[in-house]
Amino acid sequence: MRQVGNGFDIPDWFPASHPLMPSSVQYGVAPNARACGYCHLPDGQGRPENGTLAGLPADYIIRQVAAFKNGTRLSANPVLSTNSMHTLAKWVADSDVVSSARYFETLALTRRNRVVEVTRVPKTRIEGMLYAYGGKGTEPIDGRLIEVPETFARHELRDPGVPYITYVPVGSIARGRRLATRGPAGPATSCMACHGADLLGKDAVPPIAGRAPSNMLRQLINFRTGARHDSASATMAPVVEQLTVSDMVALAAYVGSRAPKR
Ligand code: HEC
Ligand code: HEC
Repeated sequence: MRQVGNGFDIPDWFPASHPLMPSSVQYGVAPNARACGYCHLPDGQGRPENGTLAGLPADYIIRQVAAFKNGTRLSANPVLSTNSMHTLAKWVADSDVVSSARYFETLALTRRNRVVEVTRVPKTRIEGMLYAYGGKGTEPIDGRLIEVPETFARHELRDPGVPYITYVPVGSIARGRRLATRGPAGPATSCMACHGADLLGKDAVPPIAGRAPSNMLRQLINFRTGARHDSASATMAPVVEQLTVSDMVALAAYVGSRAPKR
């Protein structure tokens, strides 16, 4: 467990599943900047409470770290409001950000999440920064999006292969697809117009297909509330302007249920 908790020489269960990590990804910069791979995992698959970095354009990663550093990317979520990226971005050298960004860009995102539409959801508890199964029986989903690791212990062990299940209200995926295609405020705001026909990203616009739905929802809320207000995020402003929470849940469910690659 001491090794699993070491953010300066990270646990790497499947070393053959990824290329050699640059030092910033494996060791970080002690004592203030833990290694990127500690939270985002060695193969970049990330965890719902942080984010998948595998397959994101290097320029996008570099820009986001800069936005965390200069305070233009915050979080609307009070638990994450002063998240680790803010401290880390202040300590990590630009050259380390570049090497880690180039590393993560080359990796492929693999599907780990399954989106399930329900009227009732198994009881959950909050563990650290995410939900875990807890308690007996079920309760109404009540408009929420709830993403849980199939096995919380595997999540805690930083196992990159643990499946996640995302519960959403019945009808969410179809409603999300309609909203995404039509565009919440007309054709110019169709998700496909910028994120590509299959939502796999286009130029500097990041891929969103198959990524953790709770993270996609969190980011939509961050844009909607202005917590994310770096210059590039202005592009998303007209998209989210009129979205309700239930629209965002539907979009996150749809986007997360898409295949991350062909
Ligand atoms: C201690 C945990 C931790 C470490 C170490 C860490 N991150 Fe993060 N990272 C986070 C969290 C939490 C978020 C989600 C923030 C949010 O939701 O706004 C995040 C988000 C990001 C994002 C935004 C992704 C997106 O899709 O917009 C990028 C890029 C990123 N991190 C890069 C890095 C890099 C590069 C390193 C190493 C130099 C690193 N992170 C190390 C916790 C961490
Ligand atoms: C006009 C272009 C445009 C449209 C339309 C658009 N996006 Fe975006 N989107 C962007 C850009 C650019 C970014 C990156 C912003 C940044 O760099 O801060 C982004 C970022 C995002 C992110 C954050 C990803 C991450 O890695 O954190 C999500 C989620 C997202 N968009 C979802 C959507 C959804 C859902 C739709 C459709 C309802 C949509 N976008 C429509 C341009 C667009």
